[in-house]
Amino acid sequence: MNATQINLVKKSWRLLRLVPPELVADTFYSKLFFEHPELRRMFPKQMDEQNKKLIDMLSSMVVRLDDLATLQQDLRDLATRHVGYGVLPKHYAMVGEALLWTLETGLGNDWNEATAEAWTNCYSLITDQMLKA
Ligand code: HEM
Repeated sequence: MNATQINLVKKSWRLLRLVPPELVADTFYSKLFFEHPELRRMFPKQMDEQNKKLIDMLSSMVVRLDDLATLQQDLRDLATRHVGYGVLPKHYAMVGEALLWTLETGLGNDWNEATAEAWTNCYSLITDQMLKA
C-alpha cells in the first residue's frame, strides 16, 4: 500500500464511522451469512459482542496502517486464535468480499475505484500477514 492508499482507507473509514457501528457490523455479517450460510455456525448465537470486536479491531488496524511493525505481532496473534475458531485459509476471501461489499454499500457516493483498490490492498495485506502466521 502506498501513502495515498493508506490515506484513502483512513478517510473512508472515518466516513463510515458516522454510520452506527452496530449497523455496519450487522450489514457485514448479514451479507457474509447470506452468501455463505455454512459459516454461521462458527460464530456465537448472540452476535452483539462479535459486532463490537470486529469494528474495534478494524479501527485499530486502520489507525496503524503506517506502522506495520506493531500491527504484525497483533495479526500473528489474531491469526493463531482464528485457527482455533476453525477458520480455514479459503474463508479469508469470503470475509474480504463481504467486507468490501459492506464498505461500498455504506459509503455510497464516497466509494470509487481508487478507494476500492486501496481497501483491496489493505485487506490483502492483513490477510497475507494472518495466513503467513
Ligand atoms: C481481516 C481478517 C479478520 C479480522 C480482522 C478478524 C477479527 C476478529 C476479532 C477481533 C475477533 C474477536 C476474537 C479475537 O480477537 O480473537 C474474531 C473472532 C472470530 N472470527 Fe475473525 N477476523 C478476521 C477474519 C476471519 C475469517 C476469515 C473468519 C472465517 C469465517 C473469521 C471468523 C471468526 C470467528 C469464528 C471468531 C470467533 C467467534 C467467537 O466464538 O466468539 N474471522 N475475529
